[in-house]
Order: sequence, then C-alpha cells, then structure tokens
Amino acid sequence: MYVCLCNMITDREFRAHAAQGDCTVSTVYRSLGSQPRCGKCVPFVKQLVEQVRETPRAHPIAAGTA
Ligand code: FES
Repeated sequence: MYVCLCNMITDREFRAHAAQGDCTVSTVYRSLGSQPRCGKCVPFVKQLVEQVRETPRAHPIAAGTA
C-alpha cells in the first residue's frame, strides 16, 4: 500500500530499504532518492523503520523470505 502519496512510495519499499540498514526516516527517504514533502507520512514511516529495526525477522521483506 502507498504510505507516501506525495512520492508514491509503498510500505514494501520503505521496509526493504529499512532492512538494508537505512535506519532513520531521513536515510530511508534518501536511499529511495526522495524526501518528505507534506510530511503526513513521516510518523508512519518512522513506525515502519522502528518495527523493522526491532524485529527484522517479523517482516518477510526484511528477512529476505518474500
Ligand atoms: S505523503 Fe509523504 S510527504 Fe506527503
């Protein structure tokens, strides 16, 4: 699902980049070649990044099993 509508970035893309060691919101955006615009997605992206960082095996993409 799209998380960032301004940049058309999905939760899968955010999770995949977070799993590659891009462990802050700003570095995840940067690795996707983007940056927040309106900022409405930032709290959710932060939550996604924290989830992947804390439990990478719980996320199939992060664990490399998807
Ligand atoms: S929805 Fe992500 S910057 Fe606007």
